[in-house]
Amino acid sequence: MKVLAIESTCDETAAAVVESFGGGVRVLKSVVASSVEMHEKYGGIVPEVAAREQIKSIVPVITEALGKEKVDAVAVSYGPGLMGSLLVGVETAKVLAWAWKKPLLKVNHMAAHVLTNWIVDDETTLRQSYAGQRVPVLPAVGLVVSGGHTDLILMRSLTDWEWIGGTRDDAAGEAFDKAARLLGLPYPGGPEVDKAASKVTDEEFEKYKNLFKLPRPLIHDPRLDMSFSGIKAAIARMVEGEKDLTEKKINIIAREFSEAVTEVLVKKTMLAVEKFAPKSVVLAGGVAANKKLREALRIEVEKAGIMFFVPELKYCGDNAAMVGAAAILRPEESTFDLKPEPSLQTV
Ligand code: KG4
Ligand code: ZN
Repeated sequence: MKVLAIESTCDETAAAVVESFGGGVRVLKSVVASSVEMHEKYGGIVPEVAAREQIKSIVPVITEALGKEKVDAVAVSYGPGLMGSLLVGVETAKVLAWAWKKPLLKVNHMAAHVLTNWIVDDETTLRQSYAGQRVPVLPAVGLVVSGGHTDLILMRSLTDWEWIGGTRDDAAGEAFDKAARLLGLPYPGGPEVDKAASKVTDEEFEKYKNLFKLPRPLIHDPRLDMSFSGIKAAIARMVEGEKDLTEKKINIIAREFSEAVTEVLVKKTMLAVEKFAPKSVVLAGGVAANKKLREALRIEVEKAGIMFFVPELKYCGDNAAMVGAAAILRPEESTFDLKPEPSLQTV
């Protein structure tokens, strides 16, 4: 089955053509246009601007992704996300499915992030280390970390998912974005904090880290609850008390922040591994692009003798290939009265 997939939940307008391939999904074409630069000067997303950019980009992006391809279905992310942005993708998908007389498939954007781990098109994927096993083996524990969500889920099958833990307050990505703002780094903050953090050598970090200590909230709590607002508040206090915030200090705080968030995420994921004894752990969402997190989680998961999967960098942030993957792996056919659901939950 070949699917045209559309993604417009936030500030990316994306379209992709994907098809089923073995136990996973192969991407024939994936196009992503972003309005992120337009939001940079405001230090955050302006929903009105994002929606307007979606309208401008949607037809050119779909045209480029589709080429001369004929598809069997049209899939679209219908939530969670910004209402104005979501409407653009959802309405466009409806029109195309109706005109082509093809099924309309609705996709949960967060589930799509998780199912990115079933994309098998690229020979350079890291996942080939498990004796040719290219897609996760179930049951799996999934950690999905984005700008609005931080969830741990137990995946018993491709459709039987259970929410087992997550953040009580800020999402991990949101914490990265806020930390960046406090440190005077540009928007979007996650990649900037990551970049600043990686400028600090291990030696340097060892020397200074005790001067810039941040909390690891709930790290000793036996539940799978997380909290990231406290780390952000601690940075605010740290920055306030700092008369001379040099670039070096900013980099060290960025490194300490990345370490703190990573430690919490890794600890809670490994707690879930102990509790549920999965065969694989899958990491997904925008924050899955974080170098520290990718490396640290892989080490711990493999140490426990379990397979670890994480998408290639190009599929961590919002894209439509993941929407196509979700549509193929757990298809949910919709009627033409599909409406966006801005607050849709991961499970
Ligand atoms: O999944 P995503 O692209 O959009 C949502 O569905 O929210 O996630 C975006 C989030 C932002 O908060 C961004 O700062 C964060 O992912 N992010 C990162 C990195 N790249 C993106 N956070 C930490 N390190 C990164 N390298
Ligand atoms: Zn996303």
